[in-house]
Amino acid sequence: MALIPFAWMRASAALLQPLRRLSATAWLREADVDLLLRALHPAWCLNRVLAQVEAREWVAEDMLALTLRCNGNARGWRAGQHVQLYWPHAGTRLSRSYSLTAVHGDGRIELAIKRQPGGRLSNQLLDHLPVGQVLELGQADGSLHWPASRDGVLLLAAGSGITPLLGLLRQALSEGFTAPITLLHYVRQRSQRAFSRELQRLMSQYPNLQVRWAISGDAAQADELSGRFQPAHLHALPGSSLLVCGPHGFVASVREQWAGEVQAEAFSLPPVEASASTAPLQLQFARSQLAVTGDSASSLLQQAEAHGLRPVHGCRQGICTRCTCTLLSGTVRDLRNGQLQHEPGQPIRICVSVPQGDVVVDL
Ligand code: FES
Repeated sequence: MALIPFAWMRASAALLQPLRRLSATAWLREADVDLLLRALHPAWCLNRVLAQVEAREWVAEDMLALTLRCNGNARGWRAGQHVQLYWPHAGTRLSRSYSLTAVHGDGRIELAIKRQPGGRLSNQLLDHLPVGQVLELGQADGSLHWPASRDGVLLLAAGSGITPLLGLLRQALSEGFTAPITLLHYVRQRSQRAFSRELQRLMSQYPNLQVRWAISGDAAQADELSGRFQPAHLHALPGSSLLVCGPHGFVASVREQWAGEVQAEAFSLPPVEASASTAPLQLQFARSQLAVTGDSASSLLQQAEAHGLRPVHGCRQGICTRCTCTLLSGTVRDLRNGQLQHEPGQPIRICVSVPQGDVVVDL
């Protein structure tokens, strides 16, 4: 049993500053200090972010909202950013990136997890994560921010793309944003309208907010749009600044139709082109002293893993930067935008980099 309450973790973070300095200058080993601190409380660490689950709430048939209380190491986090969540499972460490739907001043954060067909980590958390459990998180990352526009903001989300936008929306409303806001959320079934009760309540509380839903799998009702994204949906809605979040195909279709200011975040990668070559090529992972036969049909991260390497990574979607390595020679294509990268010494995100011929990477 912990000797000190979890709520003290945040208050005590400043007390650890001298120890952090000693560890940064190699006078102390961080792992040794953490071992000592964790004897007093499992969430007390010098730098790692540990958080205790305080509440679980189903906000849609397939989405669970979590409230977590962080130790004092979550620094400068903002709603709308994303964090990596780690979960030990069957001798491995699963991880996935989730968006922050709220960041409170008292150290609590909120995020939401959607059930994914075959999703190893998300489904584990939905079904087996109890209140009181302590989890490890990465530092928050991401640049989505509320636009300064006074002419109105348009938010377009598909599926779990609602989560970062909800975080930004909650904060903007609480800070007194008064220009018109329209949120359009695309879901397959009506039961997947995440946070719908809260959004209805926000609409009655803030007259400048309009929320609409587009349903593709059920028959749409009078106040709903029908089907997947169509350009006509966009052109019928007010707003001069657009934020769009969802799967890659959705985000790409919306961007194509919008000429104004836009911020976009895609939660999935474009598929590797069907024309991608499976012809053999040489991959060298220099630090691992491993040379293997590869192809142009999957990412360097996938191919490294297939040959037994365990590169550091997080989101696997080109967002978190944790998998960044140096390209030593050869050419890779960035799956997010199709651009070729071939400068020796250039940093590349191996989760979204597909080799285009022989490649040597500092891994
Ligand atoms: S794993 Fe997140 S950018 Fe590659």
